[in-house]
Amino acid sequence: MAKIGILGLGTVGSGVVELILKNRDIIERKCGFPINIKKILVRDESKKRPDYLKEIITYKPEEIINEPEIDLVVEVMGGEEPALTYIKQALNNKKHVVTANKEVISKYGKELLELAQQNKVNLLFEASVAGGIPIIIPLKESLIANEINNIMGILNGTTNFILTQMEENKMEFSEALDLAKKLGYAESDPSADIKGFDAARKIAILSSIAFNVRVTPDKVYTEGIDGISYTDIKYAQEMGFTIKLVAEGQRTDDGIFVLVAPVLLRKEHPLSSVKDVYNAVIVEGDAVGRLMFYGRGAGKMPTASAVVSDIIKALKTDEKNRLNCTCFREEEVLPIKLFRSAYYFRIKALDKPGVLSKISGVFGQNNINLYMVIQKNSVDNIAEIVIITYETSFKNIQRAVDEIKSLDEVSEVSSVIRVKEEV
Ligand code: NAP
Ligand code: HSE
Repeated sequence: MAKIGILGLGTVGSGVVELILKNRDIIERKCGFPINIKKILVRDESKKRPDYLKEIITYKPEEIINEPEIDLVVEVMGGEEPALTYIKQALNNKKHVVTANKEVISKYGKELLELAQQNKVNLLFEASVAGGIPIIIPLKESLIANEINNIMGILNGTTNFILTQMEENKMEFSEALDLAKKLGYAESDPSADIKGFDAARKIAILSSIAFNVRVTPDKVYTEGIDGISYTDIKYAQEMGFTIKLVAEGQRTDDGIFVLVAPVLLRKEHPLSSVKDVYNAVIVEGDAVGRLMFYGRGAGKMPTASAVVSDIIKALKTDEKNRLNCTCFREEEVLPIKLFRSAYYFRIKALDKPGVLSKISGVFGQNNINLYMVIQKNSVDNIAEIVIITYETSFKNIQRAVDEIKSLDEVSEVSSVIRVKEEV
């Protein structure tokens, strides 16, 4: 019999309890021993809890973390503190730890894995990225023989829902965000999702594992979707693209780039058909080629699926098979100014002779080759111009944006969005 303690009984914690109880028989047969939930930590004494859990609810973390009978601690509280402290204490007390906490793992994963190794226990965190989709264990185990060259995905369900609504129902960003809040996908403070920070934490974790380099969220160039308007989505559609918030880790000849930003993807790109709250990850290994993982990136039972799978794995994995930290390469993430991509521009400028040539002159002076230039419409003598460039460095793009903004004839550089031509 394995005894576990759970820190948190919210969306994920209650899913974990339900799943362990519902699939008790198959879990025991596959695990080889039953799993007994000994204690569950919560914070708010006024909240009603299910009657069948009353005996095992506690408000004292030490009743789990310091309890000698408990073999494994599940951390599903969220936030940095006190979760980080509790995880460290549990590891130091020689308890395996399973967590869904991307905030803690993306910042402190290396230290925590080393602490687990020192204490001869397992630390697993499959649910911290893409909820129910198995991606961390496949990267660490199934793809162990590969050099990973690229990992990219849609790692945030809330923003994917918003962009899908904008595209399919012709909504502006604020209207789609309100709908996401109404349906419970977006939190009342949605900034971590819409500004890209949630996806940045997840791609930091995935890139660290994929490239064997320590990547923390502060090293991830991050843009959100709050600057995307329906006009951009409509123009992108007309040109055969869809706009997605893409998190990507790229190994190039010069080194690695890690970024989160909206991207115009060709309709034929596999990530273009990932809609609503779904997540997907594409991995490219030198031996295996391209793989795609798709599924629910959040939610009670999908996330519980990943957590319970980790619980079983942690309890069954001995020292020889432990998944230790694999960040063995000393390498820095390259600065974003060196990153190369094509870009989409939407610019508002005076509709008069010579303006287009002035704008294209700025691109030329910054060594940017133009792939497509379209004048969309003209209202009150202000023309909306859409430009797609060929691949160039981000440094060139930033310089061009500053110079175009300073032209007297230009009233606004409304959008600058990355374009991925390849499918
Ligand atoms: P949640 O619904 O807010 O639940 C948090 C739980 O932790 C609650 O039971 C809360 O107690 C308890 N808790 C929080 N702080 C505490 C403290 N200081 N002391 C004691 N108990 C405390 O959160 P969640 O959505 O389940 O998320 C949990 C973790 O899973 C987070 O790291 C999140 O990023 C990750 N995750 C969530 C999802 C998802 O779909 N929700 C998906 C993937 C990963 P009370 O019940 O007393 O308030
Ligand atoms: N807020 C996240 C999302 C789910 O929208 O995908 C938890 O990781």
